[in-house]
Amino acid sequence: MPLWATRLPGTLPFPVTRLRLPTNIEQTGTNKDRLLRCAPDVLAGSRGGGRRAVIAGLFRGRCQDAKVSIHHSLKFIREYVSHPTTVGAVAPSSPALARALCEPFRRYRRPARVLEVGAGTGAVTRYLGRILGPEDELDICEVQPRFADVLRREVLGKPDFERAVASGRVRLLIKPVQDIGVENHYDFIISGLPFTVFDLEDVRDVFASFRKYLKRNGVLSYFEYVAMRRTSRTLALGKSRRRVRSVSRFLSEHIKDHQFAKHTVLRNFPPAHARHMQFRDIPEPATTPHR
Ligand SMILES: C[S@@+](CC[C@H](N)C(=O)[O-])C[C@H]1O[C@@H](n2cnc3c(N)ncnc32)[C@H](O)[C@@H]1O
Repeated sequence: MPLWATRLPGTLPFPVTRLRLPTNIEQTGTNKDRLLRCAPDVLAGSRGGGRRAVIAGLFRGRCQDAKVSIHHSLKFIREYVSHPTTVGAVAPSSPALARALCEPFRRYRRPARVLEVGAGTGAVTRYLGRILGPEDELDICEVQPRFADVLRREVLGKPDFERAVASGRVRLLIKPVQDIGVENHYDFIISGLPFTVFDLEDVRDVFASFRKYLKRNGVLSYFEYVAMRRTSRTLALGKSRRRVRSVSRFLSEHIKDHQFAKHTVLRNFPPAHARHMQFRDIPEPATTPHR
């Protein structure tokens, strides 16, 4: 069992002891099999071109990825400068962090209903598009219209989302997460919200919404930067220090009471903890009483 996966009594919607992050994309098969699993489009395009064409294709793909990622990082920084207390991060999450956040969902039996909160430029959304099953439903909530535009044009328009968008299984909700207003609806909530820059009241509101939206046994996954709370608690002064302390206390209590797994992702800037929680006190949905 990985160190970070602790077993909890009761019913989880997936076997926690098997929760392991895919640091290596399946170790089996020949080099070509592995390449096919990582980059089937590259191989398909290189048929007959031999090894050199495959490598050239991979290199082209990497350059394109790098261009997209720089482009998204610039958008991110621009939004951060305009709305620091909403965006709360200077860079989008890395693919490693996206994978860590989505791991409970990836391992869960399907179909599932997923809510991604605070999608930004789509670092996590893109990964979700790759693992979304044919009957899964995904709601993507983002409060900044400019980020929502990026998501619509540059993420939801891509082939990974084509079928899910065409069949109405993906919705973009451009509003604060607190305003979604559903009950016992989602199996998974994957949040990118920057709790450490929020006021305590907002953090409380958001957690109350998460509890309301999740089904019983549903899972909340979110991240926070390593040592960020401790550093802010130490360095902040006056009112800001009181805010950071109260938010930190609130989060620590939730971690103690509800976290069942954590994974520290060093391949992210800054390094981050992906935390996974279940609220065992969520009531069963109301049913019609027997006569
Ligand atoms: C730290 S960024 C995370 C972006 C992306 N998920 C990632 O990991 O790179 C936080 C995002 O949450 C959004 N956000 C902040 N408050 C929100 C709220 N109340 N409801 C929905 N989205 C919110 C911000 O606009 C921003 O895009």
